[in-house]
Amino acid sequence: MSAQRSLATPYRTHTCGELRADDAGAGAKLAGWVHRRRDYGKLIFIDLRDRHGITQVVIDAADAPEAHATASRLRSEFVVAFDGEVALRQPGTENAKLATGAVELQARSVRILNEAKTPPFYVNDPDAPIDESLRLKYRYLDIRREQMARRLVLRSELVQAIRRVHHDNGFVEVETPNLIKSTPEGARDFIVPSRLQPGTVYALPQSPQQLKQLLMVAGIDRYFQIARCFRDEDMRGDRQPEFTQLDLEMSFVDEDAVRGFIERMIIEVTQATTPERPIRDIPFPVFEYEDAMERYGSDKPDIRFAMELFDLAPALAGADGAPSSGFRVFDETLAAGNRVKGITAPGMGGATRREIDDLTETAKRFGAKGLVHLSVQAGGELHGPIAKFLSADTQAAIREHARAGEGDLILVVADGAETANDVLGRLRVELGARLGLADPDELAYCWVHHFPMYKWDAEGHRWDATHNPFSGVVPEDEVLLTTTSGDLDVRDPGDPAGRAKAMQYDVALNGWELGGGSVRIWDPVLLARSFNLQGYTREQMRERFGAILDAFEYGAPPHGGIALGIDRWAALLSYQTNIREVMAFPKTQSGSDLMLEAPSAPEANQYEDLGLRFVGVPERR
Ligand code: AMO
Repeated sequence: MSAQRSLATPYRTHTCGELRADDAGAGAKLAGWVHRRRDYGKLIFIDLRDRHGITQVVIDAADAPEAHATASRLRSEFVVAFDGEVALRQPGTENAKLATGAVELQARSVRILNEAKTPPFYVNDPDAPIDESLRLKYRYLDIRREQMARRLVLRSELVQAIRRVHHDNGFVEVETPNLIKSTPEGARDFIVPSRLQPGTVYALPQSPQQLKQLLMVAGIDRYFQIARCFRDEDMRGDRQPEFTQLDLEMSFVDEDAVRGFIERMIIEVTQATTPERPIRDIPFPVFEYEDAMERYGSDKPDIRFAMELFDLAPALAGADGAPSSGFRVFDETLAAGNRVKGITAPGMGGATRREIDDLTETAKRFGAKGLVHLSVQAGGELHGPIAKFLSADTQAAIREHARAGEGDLILVVADGAETANDVLGRLRVELGARLGLADPDELAYCWVHHFPMYKWDAEGHRWDATHNPFSGVVPEDEVLLTTTSGDLDVRDPGDPAGRAKAMQYDVALNGWELGGGSVRIWDPVLLARSFNLQGYTREQMRERFGAILDAFEYGAPPHGGIALGIDRWAALLSYQTNIREVMAFPKTQSGSDLMLEAPSAPEANQYEDLGLRFVGVPERR
């Protein structure tokens, strides 16, 4: 980062993190909050804090009787300004933990700028457990705590590095509006009623997707934005209703060009923001979507540890290739065209009954019908409720496919491919955490691409886009979209479009989806066909996507882009598992801002202005 200029103001010559041994003998003024006060009668010590650090101030009754009298009134979190002289601390009293620990300020005068009530929690104890709702209600006190402030600073550095790299690479930062029309990204819209046009609403953007594509038609060529997005969806550790994306779009590109830039950008930004953290693989590994699901049971694999899923079908087949393990559930599952897959938990062969029950419960919670466990004994024999059905040869084949050795635990799920992969993928993450398999410092970025374009939605009788409704199809699969009858209103589950792969790529980091993007459909005919498969009639297309369909009639360049979650990135770079920890003022699980007490009932005149009346909520389905 660039060298910082002096932060001196009329209240201070230095920040509380700035003074060093070299400054000894100089006069200095400091201002900040009382972090801690120790009163030894004639000597009062104040640890004075601002977001830059802590400096010890000493007030000696003999040297500065007036200041001493004032200092005896100081309490935690009072805002004060000191004027004095910097002195080396007595030998042996230096504090190596503080950057300013070699010196202290010997105060000549002190001014109380503001008093403070006793805070509802300790601002000065990093380890004190604090109820999160209290932290959120008094966020301005929470942010005074060093860890929280440090994370916000890291986030600011992250955004600064992002901006620098984009400007260095010819991107134009453009702000797109927040009062727009629905841009679907799979969540509900937040809507804002219009006063000037009663009975109509704006939607807040779920992302700037359509606008950035329109900027490409406008010839902006390379756009980026640190964009606020709004999605009315259920909250999770990695999801908030209001969040920030690094959103970008590039013209005249293919997938390699977009991914190439993003990868270089990510590396540069990571190294600028957290230079001490190792990036696991450069270049980033690239997985086909199918492979990621097959090997990790996830489209956002945590590749810091192996523990890959394995397929037991070959181990369970007889000489004729038909399933004949002797265990009915496995054989029937395979005969029905489903999957028998597993993972090996290293060193967990001695798991207790309770641990196994716990794992089984977890697997069921994830959607499995059951979980088979086999522990590898000395000599290789498998133990577990179903081991008696398995011949020695089958056991050996299972061990081999599971790459399991003595003392390991093999966990197996027999189910449809989707469920088997998903359950094992989640168990893998859970066990990885439990067994401490991942290096917590490592940053393991990877790509997953070639997602299926669509997924059949039987209820809606349409092909939903698996990701972005504007994603393009890989060139070799274009024919799958165009060979259909051409009748725009025909949609059926057997449509060859169901096999089409998208030019869609996600970037994952340590098991989280960090970002997703695609090369877009830029041909108006293909776009209309894709929207139609997604269930939109011509009228609905005009209604929802009129601007983009029109714009594409005026010469759209080939283009593609991506959006990365800034909150998620900042959280992972600062070792957090909840994005609230890197957001200044986040919402609770139920969408409240506890500090501002939002949402709240509108004023009566707001209803009136907007021509609205609250009539209650229809019962939720
Ligand atoms: P997508 O919906 O995958 O793509 O979002 C991109 C990234 O935004 C972050 N993100 C979220 N972060 C916090 N809270 C949320 N509720 C939330 N939802 C998404 C994630 C995610 O990977 N327009 C496309 C991008 C494109 O195709 O260019 C889009 O929004 O990190």
